[in-house]
Amino acid sequence: MSTTSKAPTIDARPKRQATAKNIAAMKGGTPIVCLTAYITPMAARLDKHCDLLLVGDSVGMVLYGMDSTLGVDLDTMIRHGRAVCRGAKQALVVIDLPFGTYEESKELAFRNSARALSETGAGAVKLEGGVEMAETVEFLVKRGIPVLGHVGLMPQSVHTNGGYGARGRDVDEWQPIIDDAIAIANAGAFAVVLEGVAEPLARKITETVSCPVIGIGASSECDGQILVTEDMLGLFAINPKFVKRYMELGQSIEGAIEAYADEVRSRDFPSDDHTYKMRGSNS
Ligand code: KIV
Repeated sequence: MSTTSKAPTIDARPKRQATAKNIAAMKGGTPIVCLTAYITPMAARLDKHCDLLLVGDSVGMVLYGMDSTLGVDLDTMIRHGRAVCRGAKQALVVIDLPFGTYEESKELAFRNSARALSETGAGAVKLEGGVEMAETVEFLVKRGIPVLGHVGLMPQSVHTNGGYGARGRDVDEWQPIIDDAIAIANAGAFAVVLEGVAEPLARKITETVSCPVIGIGASSECDGQILVTEDMLGLFAINPKFVKRYMELGQSIEGAIEAYADEVRSRDFPSDDHTYKMRGSNS
């Protein structure tokens, strides 16, 4: 960004930020609008349209070119969490706990969740896992850490769960996923992300669990939706089936860069409009 151009919409309204409780109360009502955010100016733009902003560990793939989320560390999440909290005035900001920072024990999960909240100002953490993580979720919630669960396709388990394909397209795959969602909801999660599952399974889980179900690749049957912002803006060439591209940002960027490069080479940029003159001079 140019140092002289006007700053984006980081407005000066007092914070009246949504809480995990507010999101939990949206079960069965107007669908909950969620997107990922990693940086301040994007968070500021998304904030007034969204109920929840997730600082996802997808940051590793989207901003750092990693081929999975497994290499993301807690310091990275905290750095981006702080940036997002600076831009968000009203949406609940949730920090993803990265792989290796919570699975080993509930005490480790508490220590790292406490860091994620106290060092960023976010209002909740997200962790992946079902039945096996329920005890940890309960431990965190009872100690003041609101938790967003994440079941179905769990990208941090890509090596053990067999890739990124949709789950539950055969009925005999349903029960463990239903059990996972129920376990996390009953453990006290304020909501649960349900990723990459067939529509009838999403409907069944949404009807069954007490907390809101936020879908990604899980049909319109859920209580809310989340997407990776850069995916729905069309930044990347590859496009999963469940992503609707609301613009072609990648193409717009290329067009702008091509115009810039042409104008620099032809000396059309910078023009007089972008050039400092001596004080008192007319031109
Ligand atoms: O890391 C992430 O962005 C996520 C969402 C896709 C749910 O977990």
